[in-house]
Amino acid sequence: MIPFVVNKRSIPRGKIKVPGDKSIAHRALLISAVAGGVTVIRNFPIHDDSRATLNALVALGVKISGTHTRRSNQISVWGRGGLLSRPRKPIFVNNSGTTLRLLLGILAGQDFKTKLTAGKYLKLRPMNRVNIPLRMMGAGIIARNKGSQEYPPIIISGNISLLGISYFLPVASAQVKSAILLAGLSAKGKTRVIERIATRDHTERMLKLFGANITIKKNNIILNPGRNLVSPGEIYIPGDISSAAFFIILAAISPNARITIEGVSLNPSRCGIINVLKRMQAKIRLEYAEKNKTKNVEPFGNIIVNSSRLKSTVVNPGEVPSLIDELPVLMVAACFAQGETVIKGVGELRVKETDRINSMIMNLLRMGADIRVVKTGSREDIVINGACALRGAKLESFGDHRTAMSMIVAAMAAKGQSRINDVSCISKSFPGFLSTLKSLIKT
Ligand code: S3P
Repeated sequence: MIPFVVNKRSIPRGKIKVPGDKSIAHRALLISAVAGGVTVIRNFPIHDDSRATLNALVALGVKISGTHTRRSNQISVWGRGGLLSRPRKPIFVNNSGTTLRLLLGILAGQDFKTKLTAGKYLKLRPMNRVNIPLRMMGAGIIARNKGSQEYPPIIISGNISLLGISYFLPVASAQVKSAILLAGLSAKGKTRVIERIATRDHTERMLKLFGANITIKKNNIILNPGRNLVSPGEIYIPGDISSAAFFIILAAISPNARITIEGVSLNPSRCGIINVLKRMQAKIRLEYAEKNKTKNVEPFGNIIVNSSRLKSTVVNPGEVPSLIDELPVLMVAACFAQGETVIKGVGELRVKETDRINSMIMNLLRMGADIRVVKTGSREDIVINGACALRGAKLESFGDHRTAMSMIVAAMAAKGQSRINDVSCISKSFPGFLSTLKSLIKT
C-alpha cells in the first residue's frame, strides 16, 4: 500500500501530456492481432490494463515488439490474419475489464478453448452482459456463478461457425457492443447491435480503418461479413480524455490556474465531460489538430483550461456513457460549483473497479461535502450541493485508480492536509499521474 499526502493548496500552471487513450489502445492491439499485415501503434500507453491485453495476445501466439522510451512509445503487432493459437495455460487478464470482455469477443470465433482468470477486483464484476450475446452467437461459455449473475474465471470454447445476431443492448456498454462486433468478424451473416444510448465508438472507427464492412445508421451498427481485415500500417493513439479529466477539473477549481493538455482525443462520444463542464461555465478552450498527419481516425487536439467559477448543472442519463469514467472527478467538480448539481442515472458506477457511488460519497462526506444518492424506481441519481469548501481528511482509494486520482484532485483544492491510503492502483491507467501533477505545481 503506497499512501499519498497532500499538504496545501497549489496553483497548477503549465503544459502536460497524458498517456494514449486506453480504450483505443485495447482495440488497436486486438484488431491488429487478427488482421493481416504488421501494424505500428504509436503513442501506445504502457500501464497495467494495456499490458493485460498485450500479454494475452502474446499468449495467443501474436508477435509483438516495442520500444518504450520517455519520448516514444511504439509497438509493432504482427497480425495473424484471423486465427490465433491455443494458449498453453490460462490467461490472466489482471483487473482489466476491457481486456476480458473484448477478448471474449475475439475468442468466440477461434477453434479452441481458453480459460480466462481475473484479479481480485475484476473477479467481482458481472459478466452476463457479454456471456449472453456471445452464447447466442454460438460460443460455449462456462463461468463462475453466484445467484443469477456470472463472474470470472471464464472458460470459452470458440466456434468457427458463429452466427451473426441482431442484439439490442440492455445496458449502455461499449465493452459489450465491442465484444459482439469482434465476434461478428468471424460470424456467418450480419451482426447488428442496437444501442438505446450511444456509447464510445472506437471499435467501429477502428474496424472501418482496417477495411471492415461496417455501417452505422442512427443507433444501429451493422457489420457485414466477408471482408478480411487489413492493417492500415500505422495507428496513432491520441491522449486519453479520461486521464486528462483529472487535470481539467483540477485547473478549473484551483485559483489562478492555467494549463494546456496537449494532443488529447476529442472523439465526440467521449467529450461528455467537456460539454458538461462548459455548461458549468468552466473556462475551457479546444484547439483541434489538423486532420491527418497520420492515418488517424480519431479527432484530437489541445485542451486549455483556466480557473473558473463553476455553476451547478443537471447531467441527464443520456449523457452518462459519454463521461462514465469521468463521473467520480465530476462529483469533485460539483462540490466546488455554486448550486445543486444532479447527475442522473449513474447506476453503472456500482459495477466498475469498485462501487464508485459508495467510494466517492464516503470520501467526499469525510471532506465535508453535501452529497447524497437519490433513488427513483431503479434509477440512481447523485445530488451535490456545491460551494461548501472541502476540508482535508483521511481518504481511501478502495484499490480503484479513478477514485484515487479523483480524491487527489479534491485534496489539492481542499483546505488542510489529506492522506489517501493507497495510490498504487493508479498504475492501472496512468503510472505517471503523480509526476505529471508535480510538473504543474510551482508553489
Ligand atoms: C470502456 C467502456 C466503459 C468504460 C471502461 C472502458 C471501453 O465500460 O467504463 O473504462 O473501452 O469500451 P462499459 O462498457 O462497461 O460502460
